Parts: sequence; structure tokens; C-alpha cells
Amino acid sequence: MDRLPGFRDFYPEPLPHHDVWSADARQYIFEKWRTTARQYGFREYDGPPLEPLELFTTKSGEEIVGQLYNFTDKGDRAVSLRPEMTPTLARMVAAHERNYKKPIKWFAIPQLFRYERQQKGRLREHFQFNADLIGETDPAADAELIALVIDTLRSFGLTAEDFVIRLSSRNAWHEYFKAGCSDLAHEYNFFQAIDKLERATPEENEQKLAALGFSLAGVNAFIETGAPTGELQSILDNLAARGLKDFVKVDYRVIRGLAYYTGVVFEAFDRKGEFRAIAGGGRYNNLVKLISGGKVDLPALGFGMGDVVLLELLKARKLLPKFDSHMDVYVLIEDETLRAPSLKLIHDLRGHGFAVDYPLTPAKPDKQFKRAQELKVRHTVKLESDAYVRVRNAASRDEVVTGMGDVKNHLG
Ligand code: HAM
Repeated sequence: MDRLPGFRDFYPEPLPHHDVWSADARQYIFEKWRTTARQYGFREYDGPPLEPLELFTTKSGEEIVGQLYNFTDKGDRAVSLRPEMTPTLARMVAAHERNYKKPIKWFAIPQLFRYERQQKGRLREHFQFNADLIGETDPAADAELIALVIDTLRSFGLTAEDFVIRLSSRNAWHEYFKAGCSDLAHEYNFFQAIDKLERATPEENEQKLAALGFSLAGVNAFIETGAPTGELQSILDNLAARGLKDFVKVDYRVIRGLAYYTGVVFEAFDRKGEFRAIAGGGRYNNLVKLISGGKVDLPALGFGMGDVVLLELLKARKLLPKFDSHMDVYVLIEDETLRAPSLKLIHDLRGHGFAVDYPLTPAKPDKQFKRAQELKVRHTVKLESDAYVRVRNAASRDEVVTGMGDVKNHLG
């Protein structure tokens, strides 16, 4: 039986087939995400993968609603797998924000589900690093979050030559829209048209904009000037003070597709423009209020970084390390009368934090040795008697014979 299209199987390395994904690479990416988020003072949270359908239909906008994996459960509830984390976060924060000092800085690594047309960089399931900051309106918060995106990508070895943050503002577009159209009911459609500029043909763009009373030439001219608003300038200055100037540029072509964004928005792209967005985010100052039915009003901002495009980029730039079993020791049991003391030693070494493997059942010595080689262990260990142990360094082939209690001191 095959897996569903757009879903992935994750295998341990070495990978058995080109059509499967690396569980080791996934773990590597998650660890970097967690480490950088913690360096920035973000705490980990999580929520349910299945939510009431309504959580996503009212707030995120048409595009994502069309991609929902939704159904009626056995209790007749309309439910959906989560296509993104932000509405869940807003719900969780609204419920218990009084218990947390502001600003709230939280991160999560949810698996998300979107019934998308499958294409390069887009699957029907992906993991997304989310970091959000709630309860602060100052652009210093936006800069802090963008610095986190940059440092997360740098932690994989990517540089300013590999990626750039395209910084924009819905406030700037809001002013532009107001100058050309007085009916704010059309603003969302206008934002959608801007969001699709790079993916639609000039004719389609012209047509959509004309229907709203704008021209493609006018919109392009606004994008070309690219003059930063006051808040964007303060973010640029903040990032420059950290030495991160080269990682960011103002680019008004970015406006973001999701409906709830209210101010500064940004996306991370590879410099060569080969891939889809690596990450995207921005301010959503009204979402907590909307989701809590007006009970809690907190400004917020955040971003999501998917594992799919990131992995494609790391592979293309040859930045993925070699993955092996991460085993430290293989205990050879060539004399079955020594199995009981060998088990005792294995247990003690594991208790001291070493990763140890051994043959579960009697096996020929050459088979055991081969297994140790496959696992790329740093040391093999073999009991000579129930008191003495031979420790061998796999790389240097140096050997020592030592007492049972002393083995751990020879495994450095
Ligand atoms: P988003 O732009 O929809 O934002 O997704 C963020 C990132 O997730 C994208 O840049 C991309 O790397 C990845 N991604 C999205 N859809 C897929 C897919 N079908 N397959 C593979 N990767 C995908 C959000 O989801 C916002 N909730 C982010 C956010 C958090 N805004 C504020 N806080």
C-alpha cells in the first residue's frame, strides 16, 4: 500500500531510496531550530493537531481555507487538521495570558497539513518552526524576531550570499490603497492581487488591479521607490546595530497571503531565487482579539519557517552534515559464557550516558565486527574474562586491557 501523495516517509540514514526523506536530517533541523529559539529566550509550546474547523475559517483568509483537511468527526463536530499554528497560538494565549509576563515569547515545531497542489517546495504536510512574540507594539520586537530568522538560517551555515529577508509593510500598502480607493471592503482583494504579482502574468495583474481602480504601472512605481516607512527604518537600524544589515532589504512586493496580518511583514528567500519562500511572517495585532471574541486584546507578531524548502536549500548548498548512527560503543560477545558480565557492563556504560549496542543473540565474530563497522562506533569493547576488558579505538586501532570499572575512562 502506498502513502498518500504529498506525505512523507522518514527513514534513518543511509537512505534506502531517493523517494524517501531523512529522519536524521529532520532531527538535525529541529535541533538547530530549538537551540536558536532558546538562545533568543523563546519557550516551547504545542497545541492539538486537530482543531474546530471554525478556528481556521474565520481568520486566515480564503486561500488557506481552500486547502483545509476538514471533516465531520464521530461526534458530529466540524473539525480540521491544522494548516498553520497561529490561530491555535492566539487561542492558547487568549485563554491564559494573565499567567504570563509580557512580552510572551514562545516557539513550536508543529506538523501542518494543507491540501495543496503538489509542487517543488510544497507538500501536503510539513513541519514549521514558529516563533511568536505577544504583547509588544514597538518595532524593536519586529527586529528581534527578524534577527531570530537570520540567526536560525545562519546556524545551518547559510550566509548573506545565500538568503535575504525581504521586508515590507501592510501599513505602507494601506496608505497607497487609501489614496486610490475609498472603499476599504476591497482592501483585502487588493492585498491578494499584490501578493500574486510575482506568480501571475502582467495581463492578469493589470486586469485585477484595474478592477480595483489601480494600474500595474502605478503599483510597480511604488515598489521601485521602496522608501522605508518610519517603522521599517527603525527595524533596519536595529538590525544594522547587530551587524545584520546585509541580510535584509525593503521589498514592497512582499505583502503575505494570510488575511490577519496588520503591519510589518517579511519573507526569507534564497538569493538566487531558485526556491519558494523559506520563511514568512509579520504583525497580526488584531488576531488575539478576534479569536477571543474581544475579551483579550494583545499585539502580536511571528513567523513560520518550513522544513521542506530549507532542506532543499541546504542540500543545494551542500550544507548538510553526514549522518551516522551516533553510537559510541559496540560490545563484542564472542564467548557466550561472558554474556552475563557483558550485559552488566553494557548497562553500566549506558547509565554513564554512552550509546551502546551489542549482538542480541549469539553471532559469528566477523558478523559482529562488521556490525560495529556499519554503526561507525568509536570503540569496540570485548570482555577477556569476567574481570578484564579489551577496549579498541576504531579509528586508531589502539587497544588497552583494563578493569571492568575503568572502561568508561577509555572511551573519550
Ligand atoms: P506561511 O507563509 O503560510 O505562514 O508558511 C510559512 C512557511 O512554511 C513558508 O514560507 C514555507 O517555508 C512553509 N510552508 C507553507 N506551506 C507549505 C507546504 N504546503 N509545504 C511545504 N512548506 C510549506 C504561516 O503559516 C504563518 N502562520 C506564519 C506565522 C507565524 N505568522 C505569524 N506567526
